[in-house]
Amino acid sequence: MHFDSPEAVSAALKSAQYLPDARISQVVFLADRLSKPVLVEGPAGVGKTELAKTMAIVTGRDLIRLQCYEGLDEAKALYEWNYKKQLLRIQSDVDHDWDTISHDIFSEEFLLTRPLLAAIRSPDPVVLLIDEVDRVEIETEALLLEILSDFQVSIPELGTMVAATQPLVFLTSNNTRELSEALKRRCLFLHIDYPDPEREEEILAARVPGLAEHLASQVAKVARSIRGLDLKKAPSISETIDWARTLLALSIEQVDEEVLGDTLHVLLKYQTDIEKAAKELTSSGR
Ligand SMILES: Nc1ncnc2c1ncn2[C@@H]1O[C@H](COP(=O)(O)OP(=O)(O)OP(=O)(O)O)[C@@H](O)[C@H]1O
Ligand SMILES: [Mg+2]
Repeated sequence: MHFDSPEAVSAALKSAQYLPDARISQVVFLADRLSKPVLVEGPAGVGKTELAKTMAIVTGRDLIRLQCYEGLDEAKALYEWNYKKQLLRIQSDVDHDWDTISHDIFSEEFLLTRPLLAAIRSPDPVVLLIDEVDRVEIETEALLLEILSDFQVSIPELGTMVAATQPLVFLTSNNTRELSEALKRRCLFLHIDYPDPEREEEILAARVPGLAEHLASQVAKVARSIRGLDLKKAPSISETIDWARTLLALSIEQVDEEVLGDTLHVLLKYQTDIEKAAKELTSSGR
């Protein structure tokens, strides 16, 4: 792969309908150059997961995704032994001594590869997405450290497996808890925030075909002012995209107070937020 500059990363992402800001392109460029994972953090729906997916598309690599959740363990993240198959082998093999059998059943043939090991073992370079890493318990983070710093996995029975090719690794976090220092130290840090109205307009133009320019601009401005309110859940990019699609579907050509009142529920997901936004945006004389 190897991009020549952050600008080249930016151009590639844009060609796949992902509109990065300068920081996003720079960090992705550096991740590739320095062979370091990227820890992408920020509020919901600002394009963290989409960034990894789009990088896979523009580099022509396979995307290997580990979706994190509470209770995720080694057997689901790295590898596990195929116990059923091992048992069958033991039962069917009466001619050999135990040493031979135990050597046999802890070989590749009996290994079930999970996403992290799959990324290490892939003959072609991949994009590895470790999504929502803040959902696993802090102790489970330790499973990731060896991969993130050395791109390798140690399996006691088989030895150390080193990546044949360098994966491009993205971890995402919604910051529901602090991540360990050990994990952060191994990564380049990328904070993605809500886009400024200009970038949001560009995103809308890319993602909502047929949306008039002046509407895109109104949508982006309204989104900006709503995000300035003190709400339970600010509208994310996915929600502004939904809202723009809603306006298109309803053949609305101007956003006015009435339209806002009728469609705010597409942007906001709490009734208290909807009421608050309706009040602020319609009475304060925007
Ligand atoms: N920079 C961008 N350019 C184009 N589209 C974007 C961009 N950022 C976000 N989007 C759109 O917003 C949607 C939501 O983004 P994504 O799923 O990556 O959010 P996220 O940050 O991973 O959220 P969560 O924390 O909830 O998982 C994407 O599917 C995409 O349509
Ligand atoms: Mg996500």
